Amino acid sequence: MRRYHVTTFGCQMNAHDSERIKGMLEDLGLGEAPTRDDADVVVFNTCTIREKPDTKLAAYLGEAAARKRDDPDRVIAVGGCYAEAQRERIFELYPQVDVAFGPGSIAHLADWLGAGGVGVARGRFGLDDRDFAAELPHHRERSFQAWVQVSMGCNSVCSYCIVPSVRGREQSRRPGEIVAEVTRLAAEGVREITLLGQNVNSWGRELAPGIDTEFGELLRACDAVDGIERIRFTSPHPKDFREPVIAAMAECGAVCEQVHLPLQSGSTRILKAMRRTYGRDRYLELVARLRDAIPDLAIGTDIIVGFPGETEEDFNATLEVVEEVGYDSAFTFVYSPRAGTEAATMPDQVPHELKIERVERLVELTQRIARERNAGRVGRVEEVLVEGPSRTEPSLLRGRTRRNTTVNFAGDARPGELVTVLVESATSTTLRGTQHALVAA
Ligand code: SAH
Ligand code: SF4
Ligand code: F3S
Repeated sequence: MRRYHVTTFGCQMNAHDSERIKGMLEDLGLGEAPTRDDADVVVFNTCTIREKPDTKLAAYLGEAAARKRDDPDRVIAVGGCYAEAQRERIFELYPQVDVAFGPGSIAHLADWLGAGGVGVARGRFGLDDRDFAAELPHHRERSFQAWVQVSMGCNSVCSYCIVPSVRGREQSRRPGEIVAEVTRLAAEGVREITLLGQNVNSWGRELAPGIDTEFGELLRACDAVDGIERIRFTSPHPKDFREPVIAAMAECGAVCEQVHLPLQSGSTRILKAMRRTYGRDRYLELVARLRDAIPDLAIGTDIIVGFPGETEEDFNATLEVVEEVGYDSAFTFVYSPRAGTEAATMPDQVPHELKIERVERLVELTQRIARERNAGRVGRVEEVLVEGPSRTEPSLLRGRTRRNTTVNFAGDARPGELVTVLVESATSTTLRGTQHALVAA
């Protein structure tokens, strides 16, 4: 049997796409290989959000090319956002690549690869050709957790971001289709779903006038599905947290007390240049409204350091907002100019050393705050969905709280079970504790 291996870069959307790529390859009769070196079909599902993933891919492709020289039957396929961004040049840049496909054309992978993963036609893809891949075969990592794609693409114009140009305009899946998928997943034993979209909470808007709906209504519909005990969603945009969304989060029992709320910058001037459509005050107001409605809410964020023109004063404004909000977790990025985006050609690009110096200060602050926030959980009993053995100490179990914090704990539960755990200690990223009880189903 020929075997495949998929290497995934980037966001949850890509991770979810990889499940579908794997499912399709298995349908073609291929088995999964444990490593790239053992695979006959090597797939890279790529990301191009910053320069770093591009560089990493180049190194991986170099290795794959060397293996291909020893074994010319080996197939190298490159999918995802980098493939889309470089669609005109990818075969010149990387002559060893056999198949390239964009994020919207996973469904056509079979046409290019052919039965058994042989008979490769050099394939091309396209945004014009895109499709929801939700109906494709899946290969899920864990039987009790699932991603559910609700939309594709993004209509925002954040000046630093390449996503709209590689994932296209926003298109929402119909509510009936989404709820049918969630119902089917629940029947298969899924207890936790994460709704996915580049701008997940603007879902539904362009279904009008045929369908008059909004994201809050979708949350309620998913909450009503029997067997779904946890609902998360990512990534929302602060501009789209309208009242019905907040009300649904507060009122739906299954919607977890957790939100990802990308800040990007705490300086209103920089936010404007980023075209985020909110300023510092509106963002802070939103945090207050969310916390008012959902008292135990955990808030995570994304922050970019060193956007063109960012002064010390702008950066300090970011530090202030971080301190004021008190994030439970934060992803911090050094601004990376992307070809074709508006910000890449802006004047006053911040020198690399200064970006590094700033990001280090920011990381120190976000870690200190996250440590304090987690320390505040010690002594509490939290509901935990068990995921498997602890990654660091195999004698312990690992799971996640409703607030999405990883917990390592002593206990005897099985993956997929909901238990309560007494929290005994904390770091900036994890909690530690002892199993208390099984939560009644
Ligand atoms: N659709 C999501 C995710 C976008 S990409 C959202 O809007 O939240 C994830 C994060 O990468 C962004 O939130 C941003 O913080 C970061 N990012 C995007 N483009 C970047 C760039 N050019 N340089 C550095 N970080 C970037
Ligand atoms: Fe990129 Fe902005 Fe769209 Fe997020 S909302 S994907 S940051 S353009
Ligand atoms: Fe990267 Fe594409 Fe996601 S660029 S962050 S994989 S949408």
